[in-house]
Amino acid sequence: MNPVQSTIARGRITAIDTSAAEALAGVHTVITHENAARLADTSDAEFAVLQNLEVGFRGQYVAAVLADSSETARQAAELVIVTYDEDPHAAELDEGSPDLYAPEVVNPAFPADAVVGDPEEALGAAAVTVRQTYTTAMNHPSPMEPHTTIATWQEEGPRLTLFDSTQAVWGVRRSIAAIFGLEESAVDVIAPHVGGGFGSKGNIHANTVLAGLAARAVPGRAVKYALTRQQMFDLTGYRTPTIQHMALGADADGRLTAIVHDVVEQTSRFKEFAEQTAVYSRGMYAADHRRTTHRLVPLDVPVPSWMRAPGEAPGSFAAEVAMDELAVATGLDPVELRVRNEPETDPEKGLPFSSRNLVACLRRGAERFGWIGRDPTPRARLVDGWWYGTGVASSSYPTYRMPGSGAMIRFRRESTGTERYEVEIAAADIGTGARTVLTQIAADALGVGAEQVEVAIGDTALPPASVAGGSGGTTSWGAAIADAASRFRDKWGDDPDDGAEADGSTPDNPHAGEYAMSAYGAHFVEVAVHADTGEVRVPRMLGVFAAGRIVNPTTARSQFLGGMTFGLSMALHEESVVDPRFGHVVNHDFANYHISSHADIGAMEAEWIDEDDPYVNPMGSKGIGEIGIVGSAAAITNAAYHATGVRVRSLPMTVDAFL
Ligand code: MOS
Repeated sequence: MNPVQSTIARGRITAIDTSAAEALAGVHTVITHENAARLADTSDAEFAVLQNLEVGFRGQYVAAVLADSSETARQAAELVIVTYDEDPHAAELDEGSPDLYAPEVVNPAFPADAVVGDPEEALGAAAVTVRQTYTTAMNHPSPMEPHTTIATWQEEGPRLTLFDSTQAVWGVRRSIAAIFGLEESAVDVIAPHVGGGFGSKGNIHANTVLAGLAARAVPGRAVKYALTRQQMFDLTGYRTPTIQHMALGADADGRLTAIVHDVVEQTSRFKEFAEQTAVYSRGMYAADHRRTTHRLVPLDVPVPSWMRAPGEAPGSFAAEVAMDELAVATGLDPVELRVRNEPETDPEKGLPFSSRNLVACLRRGAERFGWIGRDPTPRARLVDGWWYGTGVASSSYPTYRMPGSGAMIRFRRESTGTERYEVEIAAADIGTGARTVLTQIAADALGVGAEQVEVAIGDTALPPASVAGGSGGTTSWGAAIADAASRFRDKWGDDPDDGAEADGSTPDNPHAGEYAMSAYGAHFVEVAVHADTGEVRVPRMLGVFAAGRIVNPTTARSQFLGGMTFGLSMALHEESVVDPRFGHVVNHDFANYHISSHADIGAMEAEWIDEDDPYVNPMGSKGIGEIGIVGSAAAITNAAYHATGVRVRSLPMTVDAFL
């Protein structure tokens, strides 16, 4: 299968001529809004695929060709002639837009605005102020494995089976069942192995609906739809560009009195997604007067969506560069400045922290990195034509526990005497090592060796599981497995019969209202900027994290380093460039959309400090999938300032900034 995509950004289809495509040998059928099945729920415009004539962005699905091979389908798609009635469109984020509005909530459910005290008055009275605007580029999550679905529709039932590359098989089941008007039990979703997601596979996008519609058009036959890389830039979500106005007020000792973080970002006109960019500033540092706001500009573009550390990644860039600017303005060491502004309790929730070891991360990192005794003078170290500098930034990411996961444990004793515990949960391993970690958690909870545990994941035939997202997999699924293990032992003791079973589910956290729960970290970075060309290299990067109990050092280290690489990529390379005349991303492939790769990475190291947190979950673990990216781009930018004296406030940081 291959789709036909709109060539206009806004308007409506007036005619579709499929005759030339249908005449091509090997073409089975062309589906359009005229012959596609009617969907039961079209309330979400992103998923109302081929249901009407409206076009909301360039690249939207307007038809699809089913053929005997993907090559034929692609050729035939080129032969479909679509005529449009085109309306004027807007595709560029402009904070002066008259359409600017305040969303009610930001992802996933935070209030859009939060005000404490009188921040403007506090800024006016502050001994030192930093007021700056920071911007981040549009970024596209780009897992190595493109979104791919193999779908089969069976008329008996009816029943829809999807082999789908997803972070959430149950999420896909529920979404697709509602959209197609099927019982949840009539949709099977299978994803045993997933080649990365970064949030873009957190639930369905239009491609999953299109695959289902295509399968429905040819009952009994399997339809395969693998997106091309270029299609992913149109259809599977992206991180909004951001414009962030920061203001920090402090007394002469660098103690913050006011924090203001006002964000402008984009959404699509047909569906709202509001990145929680300023939420980072609500919990990070102490200050009596505070304001965080989010405003959206609706555009004729694809809808933004989750990309690794949505909110925290861009928000921490502005907040942590502003802190570096405050360190310069107050003459304080940037580590010391952060230590001085460590809150005793969560500054907005008012709750004590379940554990918070940011200061320990800063101190440990400073020691290991060789920060102590650093000369803060910018543009002071030139070696072989490269300016060298160092930078620091904090990091944090909330510890989310998602409801709704179940787990089943079954004991097997074979005739040979071999004993094994089968653990079933429809979790997803998107490259994080979830399968390994859940095996360890089950073995630990059952008090047996890991070799006796077999974990099955990635299939809606298994008990439901929440998304592999929000760095919440280990917490949410692990708590369900721990619950099942405890019920299993209560019921069967240490000597179960063959076939003994017990179910469990993720309990609510009894401490949820008592403590604020997050992981913390500190990034230390050395940057070299070429004096003649402005090229930026990052020879050294150290991340020190406090994320509760680390269940598996090997997979955890990989998560931290992966996140830090993501941050380096955000700082130096990634930028989706929109052509406002047409409304699409023009650098929509890996030749033109640059992502940090091996040659861009220097000595990158991650470590963690021991942290015992009895409140987060039975494992004592916090999420680690996203925290590595949070703050890392700021640390690189801060190091580049120290190297060159040039303060970059716009990502990505390209050579022209230094020339
Ligand atoms: Mo991740 S962006 O929470 O799937």
